[in-house]
Parts: sequence; C-alpha cells; structure tokens
Amino acid sequence: MASDRDHDVPVYTSTARKFHWTTVLLLLAQFPIGLYMTYRGSAMEYVNEAGETKVGLWDATTGFLYDAHKTIGVIVLLLITARLIYRLTKGAPPSDRSLPPALIGVSHLTHWLMYLLLIAIPVAGYLGTSYYGALSPFGIPLPVVTAKDEKFAEQVFEVHELMAFALLALIALHIGAAIYHRFVRKDRIVERMLPKKIV
Ligand code: HEM
Ligand code: HEM
Repeated sequence: MASDRDHDVPVYTSTARKFHWTTVLLLLAQFPIGLYMTYRGSAMEYVNEAGETKVGLWDATTGFLYDAHKTIGVIVLLLITARLIYRLTKGAPPSDRSLPPALIGVSHLTHWLMYLLLIAIPVAGYLGTSYYGALSPFGIPLPVVTAKDEKFAEQVFEVHELMAFALLALIALHIGAAIYHRFVRKDRIVERMLPKKIV
C-alpha cells in the first residue's frame, strides 16, 4: 500500500485509517458494556420489592446492555473480517527503516495478535451465546450455529473473557508504543495512522 498523499512518511490509506478508528470507537463502547453488564447480572447488590438484599440484577437495563453488547460484537466481527481482507490484499506502508529491527518485529507481532483476537473474541462470544440459546438481541433472530448446552456455554464465555483481557493488555502495549513514538522518540510513526483531519 503506497502513500496515498504527498507526505514524507508513508501513511496508511484513508480507508485503513477509517477501519482503525471505527474499530477503536466500537471497542471503547464494547469493553465497558461487557464488564458492566456482567457486573449487574452477577455481582450487583439490590433490594427487591420484599425488602430483601439480592445479588445479580436482571432488569430491563441489564437485558438492554447484553443486547447492545451482542449487537456491537457482531458488528465488530463483520468489520474486522472486511478489514482483514483489505489488509491482506492491499498490505501496509513500509516500516520506518530507522527503527531497530527488534522493535519492528514486536510491533508486527502485536498487530497480528490483535487481529487474531479481534476475530477470535467475537467468534467465541457468538458461539457461547449460541450454546446458551440467547442469540436474538433486540429480537433480531441471529443464526443459531450450535445445539443448546448452558454448561458448555459457560466454558466458552471463560475463554471469551480471557481473550478479551489479553486484547486489553495488547492495546495497553500498543498505546504505550504510540506515546513512546510521539513523546520520547519524537518520530512520525503515529502520523501514519492518525485521522486525516488531525494530521
Ligand atoms: C470484539 C468483540 C467483543 C469484545 C471485546 C467482548 C468483550 C467482552 C467482555 C470484556 C466481557 C465481560 C467478561 C466478564 O467479565 O465475564 C464479555 C462478556 C460477554 N460477551 Fe463479549 N465481547 C465481544 C463480542 C461479543 C459477541 C459477538 C457476543 C455475542 C454475540 C458476546 C457476548 C457476550 C456475553 C453473552 C457475555 C457475558 C458472558 C457471561 O455472562 O459470562 N460478546 N465480552
Ligand atoms: C482499541 C484500540 C486499538 C486497537 C485494537 C488497535 C489496533 C491496531 C492494529 C491491528 C494496527 C495494525 C494496522 C495494520 O498494519 O493493518 C494498528 C496500527 C496503528 N495504531 Fe492502533 N489500535 C488501537 C488504538 C490505537 C491508539 C489509541 C493509537 C494512538 C495514536 C493507535 C495508533 C496506531 C498507529 C500509529 C498504528 C500504525 C503503526 C505503524 O505504522 O506501524 N492505535 N492499530
């Protein structure tokens, strides 16, 4: 993928940058919703109409958050599939040759691991929900792909959660790298991916 504008650093195309920042925005909603909905549904204390203290509130808000999480998750899966096809066919701008090869290696590894998790996490979420028999967020009948098995669904959700935390760790490393490039090394790597209006 060659530079798509007149600039002295080879940048990602505007399509690649739109894919990147749309993914960031969706994940910015998806992670807090996932964590808060499971907290409401399993750990939140509330007082019921009889005045008893209970744990795990399954009201309309919790249901709405689960539906929103499933819907956004399916959108992320479709988006990342399109993004990966684009990435594999169009490539990326060449790496900055002034960077140590080890750093380039770590950054490529981080990027491909993030892609892998961005596919595997929603696939696991979808499979778990299918096993659980709850694949109709907001009444949208999504294709059921497995038999019902609630016990197995719980194991699949464990894997879903584990991978989500692994992705969070990689995102932290990735953002740390962006800060390092911008403020310590003071190079122009971050400009390769910033939205066009900012650069
Ligand atoms: C990239 C996309 C996704 C991310 C980053 C993500 C992240 C998360 C996170 C952080 C949790 C909370 C984990 C916990 O504390 O138990 C969670 C739970 C959950 N996710 Fe996702 N998720 C994604 C996609 C999906 C999809 C596509 C579905 C289903 C269609 C889904 C269904 C669920 C369900 C049902 C739970 C609750 C599991 C439980 O109650 O144990 N997720 N997800
Ligand atoms: C949810 C958070 C994020 C995810 C999942 C993510 C994911 C990715 C992925 C997969 C790539 C590789 C692109 C490719 O070669 O196809 C990438 C590149 C990049 N990201 Fe992010 N990113 C996130 C947040 C951020 C943030 C907050 C910044 C801050 C400026 C940032 C800056 C960059 C830059 C500069 C590149 C290009 C690196 C290079 O030129 O080698 N990302 N990101």
